[in-house]
Amino acid sequence: MLPSDRAHDDRPIGVFDSGVGGLTVARALIDLLPDEQVVYAGDTARGPYGPRDLDEVRGFTDELVLHLAGEGVKLVVAACNTATAAALAVDGTLSGRFPVPVVGVIAPAVATAVRATRNGRVGVIGTVGTIASGAYDRAMAAAAPDVKLHTRACPLFVELVEAGRTSDPEVLAIARTYLAPLAAADVDTVILGCTHYPLLTGVLSYLLGPGVVLVSSAEETARRVFATLVEAGALARGQAGPHRFASSGDPATFARLASRFLGPRLPAVGVEALAVGGPADT
Ligand code: DGL
Repeated sequence: MLPSDRAHDDRPIGVFDSGVGGLTVARALIDLLPDEQVVYAGDTARGPYGPRDLDEVRGFTDELVLHLAGEGVKLVVAACNTATAAALAVDGTLSGRFPVPVVGVIAPAVATAVRATRNGRVGVIGTVGTIASGAYDRAMAAAAPDVKLHTRACPLFVELVEAGRTSDPEVLAIARTYLAPLAAADVDTVILGCTHYPLLTGVLSYLLGPGVVLVSSAEETARRVFATLVEAGALARGQAGPHRFASSGDPATFARLASRFLGPRLPAVGVEALAVGGPADT
């Protein structure tokens, strides 16, 4: 029998990012946890965070976590690698100084990459801020000191994805240049260490080849949130309300990009008759 009286928590899940990239995490969360309500905060007015100073990004991160806590969420997902890297730099943990639990995107991806690698050589690609912070190097050293991590900043990727460019020849050429050192290092697993990068999966897997496993920090983080809520008895019983999306910048620009990151949503599912096969056996 399915349990019907389990503990529950109908408060929403808070998700924030420097802009629209964290919507890939929101999308993965909605897929895994369709009963949960998501409250999303995109800091498009101050994003991208990648080129900014880490201390400044830490201040933005604190502000957004406290904003979402004030909205009454049960947990906050820092759906931005740059923000997670900046926040982790304080004491190596995320939740300690906040009134709600905070799940970041770095530890879940590292744990999955450690399980996925067969030759002990893992690559990670991310923004300049994320890579320069050394957060992935520290997380990998703590999780699996014997795994060799090769990091690579890819400063143009965020701009290209936001311009809707994910497959043209110039994107392929830029990606080839960024990935060359990882290919030369013979990595067999690559972490997409930026929440914009799942939209580049086609290009990345084409260039790296079928032997290289791509680990999406968005999907791994959604799995971590799922496990956290199950273990805390904090799943919602049914969606408490529609998902909410807020942007500190131009709402129209956010809305246009959001549909690309969240995936096309059919307004309603119409079902037509499907005429195949002959008359039913009598
Ligand atoms: N979404 C951010 C991340 O995962 C990248 C965009 C930015 O530079 O703010 O790091």
